[in-house]
Amino acid sequence: MSAGRPSLARRLTLKVIFLQVATLMAFAMCMPLLQIVKDRGALYDPDPKVSGSIGSALQRVGRAIVLVPNEQFNALADEAPDLWFVATNAYGEQLNYGIVPSNMADIAQSAALFDVAKFAGVETPALLAVERLSMGEVRIVFGNGPLVGPLRALARSVVDNGAPLMAVLVLLATMTGLLIPRLIGSSLAGMHRAVRRAKMIDIDRRGTRLPTADVPAEIAALVDAVNEALKRIDDGYERQQRFLADAAHELRTPIAILQNRIELLTSGDLHLPQYSGRLLLDVQRVANLAEQLLDLQRIDFSDTLFGNVDLVAVARKVVGDLAPLAIGAGYAPQLTFEGRVAIVFGDSSAIERALINIFQNAIAHGGNKGTILVHVEAEAILVSDEGSGIPMEHREQIFEPFHRLRPKERGAGLGLSLVREIMVRHDGAIAVGESEFGGACFALRFPPAAIGQPKDPVKPGVRHVAA
Ligand SMILES: Nc1ncnc2c1ncn2[C@@H]1O[C@H](COP(=O)(O)OP(=O)(O)OP(=O)(O)O)[C@@H](O)[C@H]1O
Ligand SMILES: [Mg+2]
Repeated sequence: MSAGRPSLARRLTLKVIFLQVATLMAFAMCMPLLQIVKDRGALYDPDPKVSGSIGSALQRVGRAIVLVPNEQFNALADEAPDLWFVATNAYGEQLNYGIVPSNMADIAQSAALFDVAKFAGVETPALLAVERLSMGEVRIVFGNGPLVGPLRALARSVVDNGAPLMAVLVLLATMTGLLIPRLIGSSLAGMHRAVRRAKMIDIDRRGTRLPTADVPAEIAALVDAVNEALKRIDDGYERQQRFLADAAHELRTPIAILQNRIELLTSGDLHLPQYSGRLLLDVQRVANLAEQLLDLQRIDFSDTLFGNVDLVAVARKVVGDLAPLAIGAGYAPQLTFEGRVAIVFGDSSAIERALINIFQNAIAHGGNKGTILVHVEAEAILVSDEGSGIPMEHREQIFEPFHRLRPKERGAGLGLSLVREIMVRHDGAIAVGESEFGGACFALRFPPAAIGQPKDPVKPGVRHVAA
């Protein structure tokens, strides 16, 4: 168990003990309440202290009990002018005071049978108490004295029952303290197994999952979530591995060609002026690939500042920069927009890079004829061309790294996967369909901008290369 963390067993034990104390207290309070209800709603009890005041004024003279009023008794008599009592000593001698109800006079005859008794349900509730005086034990039955309220009666009941309550409590607390840690220990055995397995997880031991057998339902959800996270990490790792292998493969081919040509040159079989153009193309292909890989790396790990970006301004710049290239390749570039501005929340240089890639694709794969149309809508940029388009079965795959319709093409097949990454980071999407001219139409769609109150100004680079 980690130091400093609260233990579940300890917390549970304390809570259960607290609950037990509260229940027992409530029980102790409820008993007198029930008694009150049973006593036909009598809320007030005779004050038991009265017998003490009476006893203090009693003396045995000859063979009789006599009342010798003292200060204490006088105060009592002033407070309760209707007070009555019957005092009986061990010799059977009796003293009556006040107007004793007839039924209570009979009961007083049998006072020797009781130690303490409460007589409810009579005209006035009466009490019987035993006072130990110099003449010996005197049983005093009294009524019409001062009363005590229900709260004091309840408190007295709790105090009176204190000893047995404490005994029950100590017993319960001991059993709870002993049992709960053991119960929790056995219930969490499955979790301890999961912890041991988790400690074995490593980059070299992928595919490991935490066992869920015997894990309590409350913790199983966490274990399941960790297992799902592990699966995502494994999948991501495998994608990275595949990407690396593909990248190495893509680099190997132009490098091998380059090596072969240089060998031919050095052997004198070929002449440099004749082949320098081809060599330059090969070098350019390797350089392009390195540049694309770097681009993907940058988008993965850079912290980018997001802000409001005007898609119209981005499109103007990209079309302006690439128009000479497009015209040189035989196209008629065109830019149209719905409004004068189209604001989205994003990273302007990344959006620019995405549009450059799409526009360059239209130049490279658009059949070297017709219009390349860039159209800006409220939250989207669409690029259409008049080439042969993207066949239905490739419309998903072209966004995977290194996927090309014609593998012999000069590009590495990384441009569209980079664009998709950029769009994912913008909570947007890229889709491809057919253009009105019959060629490809790529659409970059962004979520609506929260103008003036960017919700997430810094988007950390957390996504990985291939999806
Ligand atoms: N406008 C288009 N018309 C027809 N095919 C296209 C178009 N855009 C992309 N493609 C196809 O999709 C493939 C993947 O495009 P992507 O941009 O990812 O790679 P690339 O252009 O081949 O290489 P790179 O962009 O890495 O230099 C291309 O090889 C091409 O076959
Ligand atoms: Mg491309």
